[in-house]
Amino acid sequence: MDRRHFLQAAGSAGIAAVALRAAAGEVKSAVMIRRTEPDRFVLDFSPREPRPLRILQLTDTHFGSQSVGAKINDGRSFLEIRRLVEEQKPDFLVHTGDFINNDQGEKVSFEAIEVFDELGIPWTHALGNHDHGHLSVAEFRKPMKHAAVGEFRSGDKNEYAFRFDITTGGGGDPRHSLFCFDSGFEEPNRRVSQPQIEWFVGQMKRDAAEGLKTPSLAMIHIPVVEFESLRAANLHKGHFGERVCFDSDTGDTFTALKNSGRVRAVFSGHDHENDYAGIWQGIELVYGRVGGWSGYGDLERGGRLIDIDLAAGGFTHKIVTPKRRDA
Ligand SMILES: [Fe+2]
Repeated sequence: MDRRHFLQAAGSAGIAAVALRAAAGEVKSAVMIRRTEPDRFVLDFSPREPRPLRILQLTDTHFGSQSVGAKINDGRSFLEIRRLVEEQKPDFLVHTGDFINNDQGEKVSFEAIEVFDELGIPWTHALGNHDHGHLSVAEFRKPMKHAAVGEFRSGDKNEYAFRFDITTGGGGDPRHSLFCFDSGFEEPNRRVSQPQIEWFVGQMKRDAAEGLKTPSLAMIHIPVVEFESLRAANLHKGHFGERVCFDSDTGDTFTALKNSGRVRAVFSGHDHENDYAGIWQGIELVYGRVGGWSGYGDLERGGRLIDIDLAAGGFTHKIVTPKRRDA
């Protein structure tokens, strides 16, 4: 199925006030997350032995549609994601959007939230264009128990960008940061909004004043236009299977990220047939791997494993798929 047959947008934004309700002992990960501000979390990583922080990026699962076929596909995706998590043992899950098909104008199942919470690993979610829908973002987020998701207020509305500062050993100065953005849901605003860009610039100024210079990663559902520049310049490695749908992106987001001097990579989703990566003007642009069978596309479902070396500040990443599948 072509992506364009997939698109139908509706929705509203509400006030999200989500607390991370991970009870002690309930979460298997070496990560503990504490919210310090509506748009800010401290993620402490304290493994038994020193090792990189292991993040699994999942994307474009498109859960929740109520047709028989979609329910079968979702069941298969749940099984494979559980296997992937068992096999790769990530410390933290980042879902880069289109988690639920919440924009079809009809009731959808939010069972996937329960499935993710039951993985026993803290997770977060950067909004995709299909996640906005008949339930507001606040209602959508309400049942999440182990997800850390934030927002900030801009004028009379919420903007769904937030950050994690990663510490190790229970405290001290952050070693790394991770920024999640909402890239919008309706044309002509299918991109990181101007208030979010201003928020990011403000965060950088505040960090500079506080002497915080952590290397950073950005998570944005819709690829910025530079993903297309990368491909056109033939600097990409990996699978290019469909046109880069940067939608309304203008280049302003990448410019802000680049000007920060701190962002090392942007991880995106949205285009299920693309999973390539490459460096553009000093920033690595990386597609995830489509993770759910209810979305279009023929690539084997999986995720992208990101290892962050908190001591050295570097990171590596690779595509991972479940080793064990049903015959
Ligand atoms: Fe999308």
